This record gives sequence, structure tokens and C-alpha cells, in this order.
Amino acid sequence: MKRIAVIPGDGIGPEVIAEAVSTLRAAQDLYGFDVSLISFDWGAEQYLSTGVTLPEGALQMLAAEYDAILAGAFGDPRVRDNRHAADILLGMRSGLDLYINLRPIKLIDERLCPLKGRKPSDVDFVVFRENTEGMYVFVGGNFKKNSADEIAVQEEINTRKGVERIITAAFQYAREHSRKRVTMSDKSNVLTYGHDLWQRTFKEVAAGYPDIEANHLYVDVLAMWMALDPGRFDVIVTNNLFGDIVTDLGAALQGGLGMAASGNIHPGRVSLFEPVHGSAPGFAGKNVSNPIAAILTAAMMLDYLGFKEASAGIERAVEAAVHAGETTADIGGGLSTTEAGEAIRRYLIEQTTEGTNQ
Ligand code: IPM
Ligand code: MN
Repeated sequence: MKRIAVIPGDGIGPEVIAEAVSTLRAAQDLYGFDVSLISFDWGAEQYLSTGVTLPEGALQMLAAEYDAILAGAFGDPRVRDNRHAADILLGMRSGLDLYINLRPIKLIDERLCPLKGRKPSDVDFVVFRENTEGMYVFVGGNFKKNSADEIAVQEEINTRKGVERIITAAFQYAREHSRKRVTMSDKSNVLTYGHDLWQRTFKEVAAGYPDIEANHLYVDVLAMWMALDPGRFDVIVTNNLFGDIVTDLGAALQGGLGMAASGNIHPGRVSLFEPVHGSAPGFAGKNVSNPIAAILTAAMMLDYLGFKEASAGIERAVEAAVHAGETTADIGGGLSTTEAGEAIRRYLIEQTTEGTNQ
């Protein structure tokens, strides 16, 4: 039995996670895998009433007692600096050493792509975003703060171990998933120390994977090619900040943030799965948000836990609902969040009872 911690979080988080959880339950009935879901109310509400962001001992508990974490979104206008979001989300990423942020960019239906004439086969790649260092280390400080002479320093940390393990994970993934090419993206023409480490490490790791084409693009050029010809990408590997930026661009290519799933992974350890989108407070409680990102995130989690058939089944059900236009308005449909979730579950049930679940 696999134990899953569910953290719905803030804003639209609870609504989309409710759909993901109902879909997990439906898949559980159909495919017969064994998971138990335990909810935690960490988020803005709890922070505002108790002052607690990530409870003491939470990381140890998650690491010791859980196999995966399914999270919604964190962010609330009442918490101006969103401190709780940084503590909870970034706290889990770094505290659990979840060094791979895996973000698939997959177009389900050509109607959803903002680029002209692109088919699903043209937008189908994965991004390996380094998830524990880079610009996300909060190293730096201010000098003469709030004066005309203020200086602010914010450091980027790149370690040999950190860079090597994310690049290796990207190559390993390419080999295991029959992807031909790994593209590493940095800004080594300007960041001549930190990103030169990426360059050297990339060449060394690539030498161990002669079956995979190793390719390099500066991040500005990467952004251009993602818009001009996304079909040239299989696996992209990059640092934490660049990965943050290019995966929002990637989400746009697949139909927007409502479609984008992600996993924060340390192979073999408790790992965290969350939709790429934020808490969208303006839409909270309105039953209009797209639950697909959260549902595809739950499917990614099942794949990670080894329930591959159920994971693929949920993906096919999402595809069927999207092709049929049974979706929320952000991708052209007329359904509410709950109706869109129900449509996906109906396709999930239909495909398994028709025996087409290979
Ligand atoms: C993401 C988000 C986070 C990040 C924020 C909420 C800290 O944008 O998961 O992409 O920058 O990593
Ligand atoms: Mn982001």
C-alpha cells in the first residue's frame, strides 16, 4: 500500500485537488491499486490563524511515512510576501532534496496550441529543471538598505554534485524513454563561472551516453526555438530559474497553465507532485478553474509509484475529454471545474469497461 499526503493549499488549489482526488479514487476502483490518501491543511489559512507555515517535524514525517505528496497551489493576497508558500513549497523541494523538477510539455489537441499549424507530435518534450539550488538558495543580502546608496546582492549557487545529478537524470530519462536528444540550456557566455560548470559537467556526462545526442543552447536562443520549432526538443535540462521561466512558456504551448503538470522528484524517495499553475485567488471558489493540470499531475504521481496502467488510463481519459471539448472555458469548453472532472472520470470508466485499456 502506498501512502499519499494531500495538501490542497490555497486559492483554487482545493477545487482542482478535489477533482484529482476523485479521479484517483475512480482509477483505484477500476485498476485496483492500493493507496491511502491523508490530507493536510497547510497553507495561508493555517498560517494566518496560527503563524505556522510548514509544521515542525513535517519533513521528517513525510520522508518516513509517505511515498508521495500531492499538492495544489500556495499563495494568498492576505500574505503579502507569500512567506508560507516559500516555506511550504520551496521547503519541501529543498528539505526533501527533490532535485528533479520534471515538467512534461505535451500538446493534447492542436486546437490548444497558440502556434500556427502545430500538431501534438510537434509539441512533445520534457523539461528537467534543477530544483534545489541555482537562484533558489536565498543567499545574499542588502547593504545600506532603503537608502539611495543601497546595494542588493543575490547569489546563484551551482554545485558540481547538483549539476551532475540533474544532467545525469535527464540523460537517463532520455535513454529509458527512447528520446533521441538532450538539450542543455544555460547562459555560459555571460555567467562564465557558474554556467561554465554546467558546460563542463554536461560534456562529461554526455560522454557516457553516446546513444543520445547532446545539444546546447543559450537560454535566450532556447526561448526563441521553443516558439519557432518546439518539435526539435526531446529532453531539456536547465537550472532552477531558467527552468521556472521556460516551463511557463512550455505550458503556453500546451494550452496554458491549466494543462501543465509537474513532479518534484528524488528517485526512490517521497516525491512531490503539483500542477505548475498558482493559486489564482481571483478564480478561487468560482468552480471555473481547469482541473486538468491537477489530474495529469495525479497521473504522473501514479506513474512514479509504479501504477503505470492507471496513469496511462487517466491520461487517455483527459485526452478524450479534451478532444470532445468537454472542458472548462480556458481551453474553449463550457464546463465548470466539477463537470470537467466528471467528464474525465466518465471517459476513464468507459474506456476500462470497453476493454480498450492497453
Ligand atoms: C513554480 C512556481 C514557484 C517557483 C514559485 C511559486 C515559488 O513559479 O513552481 O514554477 O518559482 O518555482
Ligand atoms: Mn513558475
